[in-house]
Amino acid sequence: MQILQDKKIVLGISGGIAAYKIPELVRRLKEQGADIRVVMTEGAKAFITPLTLQAVSGNAVADSLLDTAAELAMGHIELAKWADLIIIAPATADIIARMTAGMANDLLTTICLATSAPIAIAPAMNQQMWHALPTQANIKTLSERNVQIWGPGSGEQACGDVGLGRMLDVDELVTLASDFCTDKYLQGQHWVITAGPTREAIDPVRYISNHSSGKMGYAIAQAALRAGATVTLISGPVNIKAPVGSQLINVNSAEEMHEQALKFAPKSTIFVACAAVADYRVAQIATQKIKKSNDAMQLELVKNHDIVADVASLDNKPFMVGFAAETQNIEQYARGKLIRKNLDLIAANDVAKSGQGFNSNDNALTVYSAIDKTDIPLANKQIVAQRLVSLINQHYLAKKN
Ligand code: PMT
Repeated sequence: MQILQDKKIVLGISGGIAAYKIPELVRRLKEQGADIRVVMTEGAKAFITPLTLQAVSGNAVADSLLDTAAELAMGHIELAKWADLIIIAPATADIIARMTAGMANDLLTTICLATSAPIAIAPAMNQQMWHALPTQANIKTLSERNVQIWGPGSGEQACGDVGLGRMLDVDELVTLASDFCTDKYLQGQHWVITAGPTREAIDPVRYISNHSSGKMGYAIAQAALRAGATVTLISGPVNIKAPVGSQLINVNSAEEMHEQALKFAPKSTIFVACAAVADYRVAQIATQKIKKSNDAMQLELVKNHDIVADVASLDNKPFMVGFAAETQNIEQYARGKLIRKNLDLIAANDVAKSGQGFNSNDNALTVYSAIDKTDIPLANKQIVAQRLVSLINQHYLAKKN
């Protein structure tokens, strides 16, 4: 099931330069399962054509209140009733002002007035216009009326100014729409998630590590947040952004991750160990860069703490979920780790297969409990994470009750 499966979204476009990004937004929302009906203001059509949006949305684009043909098919009241969510992106100062005043002088404002669906706006305008007192007063009023205000972001603007007023990126808007539409079934839970690789220093410039990108763990954090959980993400060094709203704890080595895990886990509901932790560290880290001399060299390694096993041995341990990255005998090794590390669940991935596991966008998991197993088939890590989070919660509730 996709995150926005069967969600009916009216996507209103007003006349700002950021309108050129909307075909991509439509494509991404559809990818998540949403059905999109585009409504354009007259101003929007100066920046992008209805034909483009019709092609990407797969539906006729509505742009006029006084269109007899449209009224026969899906008129303004039908569109207002059809929508589960209305998103206006970009939302100019003008449409924000007209919505605040309760005007109905074009199709988009009329739909906003006639709908009972939630409305979200993604403001986009010059930074001075954004800071102007009337705009700020309008935003405050809309916010008090429960209109979701998504953005704006900050940065360089089309007019050359720098500051607040840029429409949020498509990625951010898709995330906000997905968050908004997800049932908050984890409300009240605190998840601690480890993610990414660890780095075990050899000397000041070298280290031992692995290919974990953090994508799987960060996707789990995002899915848990989206479902209403509080999330602490203990992460090794990665090149991706932590989900907005998560508490990010950056670490380097396995021993640093161990310390932070033991600090946060006792207060948590669920602990997910997705990090690819080095089993060994260098016994003596050289204080200076090691010089090349002999043809061969040896490093003495000592065992790191097993983070997930140590958390699972706490008296007040949370519900425990581990991962198993295997290249062979997957079920046997995963079940062995489940028992040895005293876990409630273990999510096994076959990291020998290309296109999944380490540093890929997709993954497939088999999740083992002491008595059963569930397959989560190959899909984007966001989708896999969403299914995993829901499955973990089912097992957690079954254990609790
Ligand atoms: O980050 P990505 O690029 O998205 O890749 C995702 C992933 C492949 C890293 C992820 O899906 C995954 O499999 N994570 C676990 C990797 C791993 O270290 O597996 P393992 O079988 O070696 O360890 C078993 C479990 O013990 C894991 O939960 C691990 O976090 C934990 N462990 C291991 C060693 C240690 N010292 N402490 C631990 O807590």
